[in-house]
Amino acid sequence: MSTPLLEIDGLTVRFGGPGPLARAVRRGVKGAPGGGVRAVDGVSLTVPRGGAVGVVGESGSGKSTLMRAVLGLVPPTAGTIRLDGRPLGPRRDTATRRAVQMVFQDPGTTLNPARTCGSILAELLRVHRIVPADRVAARVTDLLDLVRLPHGVAGTRPHRLSGGQKQRVAIARALALEPRLLIADEATSALDVVVQASVLDLLAELRATTGVTLVAVSHDLDLVRYLCDTAVVMRAGKIVESGPVAEILSDPAEPYTRELIAAAPTLSAAPSGKDRQ
Ligand SMILES: Nc1ncnc2c1ncn2[C@@H]1O[C@H](COP(=O)(O)OP(=O)(O)OP(=O)(O)O)[C@@H](O)[C@H]1O
Ligand SMILES: [Mg+2]
Repeated sequence: MSTPLLEIDGLTVRFGGPGPLARAVRRGVKGAPGGGVRAVDGVSLTVPRGGAVGVVGESGSGKSTLMRAVLGLVPPTAGTIRLDGRPLGPRRDTATRRAVQMVFQDPGTTLNPARTCGSILAELLRVHRIVPADRVAARVTDLLDLVRLPHGVAGTRPHRLSGGQKQRVAIARALALEPRLLIADEATSALDVVVQASVLDLLAELRATTGVTLVAVSHDLDLVRYLCDTAVVMRAGKIVESGPVAEILSDPAEPYTRELIAAAPTLSAAPSGKDRQ
């Protein structure tokens, strides 16, 4: 069997270790071993190469913290993360950092407002020497094509773009580095429902055209159905349910998952996956 692209094993991330204040508080609090918040609590998760896995759960369930640990932005308290069989430690070389890219919820805050979209992309290509200097401009155009943006966007600053266009630039920026794993953390939840559907379609298309492995984080299981084969459901830092998305949706084993499905605004009112623009 081939090694999975991403293997997370027994991952725990605890915030706010027992400093003097935490220790004082803990004396009066039961059920907080080690102190602080266990944002991620013994999570194991495998993502096959070329696959798409959804991570679903209510606000505060630990989804983003899990992904931030994969990116190396927060240190695990326990457990291991492997990419292509190699352990990912807190200190990573440039190639390893390139291999995992994340698209965040609010593209407005992650794109430099002082630069044009073209120069944001060009700089990344140059700094990481993705293509020779004389191919940078052509590659910027290719990237805009890839995310279905008009070439004119290259000369435009991010704040002049719509939310959906900004998110496409953010996706182009992530793909510029030719990652092996793309993480979309609530990448469409700040967008209105029609734009959300078109960005979801783009991500699905990119999966097919680039072969990139995808982890899609959302509070909405119905939404990950459009992108993912399998999903895990997180609650209070733990995975409480996992399996094929369709099965979880049609026959949730956990009452929590049932609540989550009932609480989420549904996309089924929007046009079906295939014929959205
Ligand atoms: N830097 C931090 N310091 C302390 N606590 C944190 C930190 N980041 C997250 N937490 C806590 O960890 C828990 C999990 O947060 P996290 O952001 O991972 O949840 P989430 O599932 O992504 O939620 P949302 O759906 O709202 O994005 C929460 O209790 C949160 O308050
Ligand atoms: Mg989050």
